[in-house]
Amino acid sequence: MTAPIIAPSILAADFSRLGEHLRQAANADWLHVDIMDGHFVPNLSFGADIMKTVDKLTDQELNVHLMIEEPGKWLDTYVAAGADAIIFHVEAVEDHVALAREIRGKGVKAGFSVRPGTPIEPYLETLNEYDQVLIMSVEPGFGGQSFMPEQLDKVRTLREYIDSNGLDVVIEIDGGINADTIADAAAAGVDSFVAGSAVFGKEDPAAAVDQLRELAAGAR
Ligand code: DX5
Ligand code: ZN
Repeated sequence: MTAPIIAPSILAADFSRLGEHLRQAANADWLHVDIMDGHFVPNLSFGADIMKTVDKLTDQELNVHLMIEEPGKWLDTYVAAGADAIIFHVEAVEDHVALAREIRGKGVKAGFSVRPGTPIEPYLETLNEYDQVLIMSVEPGFGGQSFMPEQLDKVRTLREYIDSNGLDVVIEIDGGINADTIADAAAAGVDSFVAGSAVFGKEDPAAAVDQLRELAAGAR
């Protein structure tokens, strides 16, 4: 197993001093960019123009989490804005495999996400079409919510399937990850941890990233 990946969500960053705040998390592995459209989720965040700015301010890999309807219409926009990985919600599309292939065809990594109420079993047989799977451990739409531990059953199912089939797919978790919850997620088999408030909500984001990484590594 590779070292745990820590992916701070810029949703929790201070946009009045974005460059400085992002630099304070420069020791993180990836950055997680939450795009919300006010339809798929009942909240708005920011769009591709802000993401372009983030791309200029950092060298980190940008993972775009599209919480939007009709994600397929926006692929070129987010690729042009600097996406290294595009993650869409299976609940928002008819043919998820076709979309995954389209994303990979554009030279970026493909991922899918499931809301807490969406089962993972129907997607296991198509995992080879993906680079990562994002398990939501809160209802998507807002940062700062409480972790839903029962979502770890999906992680265990994925871990077992991925390992027994020799697949190369990153299991990522998003929502309520902090110093109290990350160990359980790591023990269940998560590879990559999205954390918003537990990184950018802290006085010292770099120290928070290091602490989360250590806690995750110690629990695996
Ligand atoms: C929620 C977003 C998350 C959010 C996580 O819809 O997908 O990425 O920013 O925030 P925390 O870590 O504060 O729960
Ligand atoms: Zn997210």
